[in-house]
Amino acid sequence: MNPIQEMINRPITIGGKEIPNRLFLAPLAGLGHIAMRQIIDEFGSCGLLFSEMCSAKALPHENRHISPMFRWRDEEAHRLVMQIFGATPLDMALAAERIEDEGLFGVDINFGCSVSGICKKESGAALLKDPDRAVAIVREVRRAVSIPLFVKYRTGWSDDPQFAAELGKRFEDAGADALVFHPRVSPDRRSRPPKWNHIKIVKEAVSLPVFGNGNVFTASDLTRMVETTACDGVSLGRIAIARPFVFAEMLQGQTFDATIYPQVALRFLDLVEEYFSAGYAIRLYKKFALYFAANFKFGQTIFKQLVYADTLDGLRENIHKTFASPLDPSSTPNLNLFTG
Ligand SMILES: Cc1cc2nc3c(=O)[nH]c(=O)nc-3n(C[C@H](O)[C@H](O)[C@H](O)COP(=O)(O)O)c2cc1C
Repeated sequence: MNPIQEMINRPITIGGKEIPNRLFLAPLAGLGHIAMRQIIDEFGSCGLLFSEMCSAKALPHENRHISPMFRWRDEEAHRLVMQIFGATPLDMALAAERIEDEGLFGVDINFGCSVSGICKKESGAALLKDPDRAVAIVREVRRAVSIPLFVKYRTGWSDDPQFAAELGKRFEDAGADALVFHPRVSPDRRSRPPKWNHIKIVKEAVSLPVFGNGNVFTASDLTRMVETTACDGVSLGRIAIARPFVFAEMLQGQTFDATIYPQVALRFLDLVEEYFSAGYAIRLYKKFALYFAANFKFGQTIFKQLVYADTLDGLRENIHKTFASPLDPSSTPNLNLFTG
């Protein structure tokens, strides 16, 4: 094992609970659902799984067996961090209480999402424009629960790492147990590379664990992020959807042959069919397929071949046809598909 692999495999304690390693699945709306997390578990898994963002207002009334987002398998509960977005300290505290009552590992506050539907509700990254309210939310959630409390946030609305560092310090003082930092300004939807140096600046400003996030796609990206930022671990987003077995690759150095690809796609279809209605399962598959196709040269063409059907059986047939002869993998993901 190389030194970075050793470091990333070292357990870490957050909020009094030990986590077996330092590589996490990032929260991904529409992608990081119960079926995806099961696939990740089946192919090796990671230290913690973060859920898709859930509305704090809705969460106290959700039925975990019906809700598309507030849903999990009992087997993953002890490693699942539920992410919430909301506008008021009270809504967020009530949601966090429900998460604690359900016995999940922890709660993650979303101050990073910049899509307009969320920002219009004064939630997500919009709260970085109102740091006092963001800090009040962290404080109130801390008061409400004793499970580990994560805060995921971005640089802010202007490219000022000092703002992010000071805010990180305020989150720490308000009771956060760990930060997950994605060094991009808020209007930027992943079209430009994140500024990893800002992770270092945040890390130096606080004493709690800081997890870096953004554009880690390969083992060498992981090494560079850890070495250049001194972060305590890394949260993987899109690459974990494209390659649900990436955690086994990065943590154990495991290698997979080309048969892994049809296996993953077929298993995905089986699981979304098991958990969701056919219509919703097809939608989820098509979202996943965009990232999955990024593994291959001519990914755009592969994507079209994979999704050209409107039934689950039609999609299965496409997978068999597409992988009837092995495809040329790309050494790094096709970023045109990844920015979608
Ligand atoms: C489709 C999509 C959905 C996302 N949903 C969430 C979300 O629900 N909550 C969140 O905090 N970040 C969300 N993000 C941001 C990711 O967690 C992550 O910060 C971003 O993708 C950068 O990491 P990566 O380069 O490893 O993908 C989302 C990103 C994508 C592409």
